[in-house]
Amino acid sequence: MTEAKKRNGFASGIGFILAAAGSAVGLGNLWGFPYKTAKYGGAAFVLVYILCVLFIGIIAMIAEIYLGRRSQANTITAFKKVNNKMGWAGMLAIIIPTFIICYYSVLGGWTVRFTANSFQTNEALSNANSFGSFISNPYIPITFTIIFLVIAAIIIMGGVKEGIEKASKVLMPALFIIVVLIAVYALCLGDGVAEGLNFYLNPNFTKLGFEGVLAAMGQAFYSLSLGMGIMIAYGSYTGKEIKIGKSAIMICIFDTMVALIAGLAIFTSIGHFNPDAFKEGSGVALQSVGLMYETLPQVFASLGWFGKIVSFLFFAMVTIAALTSVISLLEVATQFVIQKFKVKRKVATLVLALACFVVSIPVAWSVGGAFNGAITIFGFDMLTFFDEITNTVLMPVGACISCIVIGWLVEKGTFKQRLNPMNAYSALKEDGLDLGKVGKVFAIMVKYVTPTLIMLLEVFGIIAKFGEYSAKNLNFAWVLVGAILLMAVGITVYFIFFKNTYTGTNEDELLLDKPMENPENA
Ligand code: PHE
Repeated sequence: MTEAKKRNGFASGIGFILAAAGSAVGLGNLWGFPYKTAKYGGAAFVLVYILCVLFIGIIAMIAEIYLGRRSQANTITAFKKVNNKMGWAGMLAIIIPTFIICYYSVLGGWTVRFTANSFQTNEALSNANSFGSFISNPYIPITFTIIFLVIAAIIIMGGVKEGIEKASKVLMPALFIIVVLIAVYALCLGDGVAEGLNFYLNPNFTKLGFEGVLAAMGQAFYSLSLGMGIMIAYGSYTGKEIKIGKSAIMICIFDTMVALIAGLAIFTSIGHFNPDAFKEGSGVALQSVGLMYETLPQVFASLGWFGKIVSFLFFAMVTIAALTSVISLLEVATQFVIQKFKVKRKVATLVLALACFVVSIPVAWSVGGAFNGAITIFGFDMLTFFDEITNTVLMPVGACISCIVIGWLVEKGTFKQRLNPMNAYSALKEDGLDLGKVGKVFAIMVKYVTPTLIMLLEVFGIIAKFGEYSAKNLNFAWVLVGAILLMAVGITVYFIFFKNTYTGTNEDELLLDKPMENPENA
């Protein structure tokens, strides 16, 4: 048997890269990135975003993939294998993505509905209220949420190689082709394209501020699927034949390209079809869920029958992107449940998907209600509240922990020896992380630069959020409370249930699939 066959992991390097890119490319790129760019000053935000990917994202990505690969196990065991005292970090890495699923699949559900409805009449499509009445309907968004989750669950049940890898190999190239086609089409629209480009590429630093800088960092983690267990889990399904440094760089480039191209397509088409949108106080939604689900359908509606095809392609692309992301979100907890409780993959997936669905019901209702100004908590609808908790607090914390664990805890030696990054460099190399010439740079970055940058941006961003006294800023205190509470729950659960027990490895899942090969069962 070849190594890849013995492992229950990705069959090929390219399969791994496509699956990881599938996780990374998602609503974060196609919806979050453009709307945050519109909110925080166009190219000013884009510039900070790219710097965050370069100096923080790539480093954290290498650290997380390697953390997974060296352990060949779920996230809890992965952290325990570096240092037995760190297992709680693996629990956070499971809780955060599972929590994200509860709102991500609501958005995914809307996307499925928009794909299906692309061929509606023009009046229905151009009706600005159609989005509002759709999401405030109590049942339809929930129906679409479950459709979305079921599709994701079916793919995960197929396993890593046969489900996730195979789906990504078809879906990712398809997605890329559609993004490029739509962008080329948008750039050729003529009138208004220049205004759109101007809005996108003209930096406005006054709109950025430290709040915008923190948003850019959070967006980088979110978009690259970092700061939780995802890259650790996917990394655990790879072997020595995969070049971690090159893979990480390719995933980051691919993800950033899709975001930048999506921005091009969206801003130029708004410039063409709705140029007033860029004026202050135009009332056109550029800055939140409205951008993708309200403004764009109106753009498509103005294109007649051709618009229906573009609309279908566009929302099909968004659905694909969201699907490959939610698959990765669900895989983290699934992997742990299979390995710890020795249950079949199908059972683990179903139970977890069902639990997430239950939590997503109030989220779906809350967003619909908030649209009419009805249901909010602490001044946010639940979707925005959950999103703030994960993006502005939990992911930066998670990514910082991964960097510190790889940068400080893999090596042995006294504290004084550890202060020298070259000690980490040789320890990591011996441990199996071979990054060639850039290994030394990586050691300096993970040990000092990246964690420091994350902490500084986090602190200044939070101060900026509180900077001006107003009710809205005080609401942000609830985001912090929510984040701390969630971490406290995760850590407590870990210490009560999983600290002193064996938490399983990928090998356990393999034995579960082939019980006859397990000498203990024979
Ligand atoms: N990276 C995905 C996106 O850009 C979302 C995601 C976030 C997926 C976190 C997994 C983990 O939409």
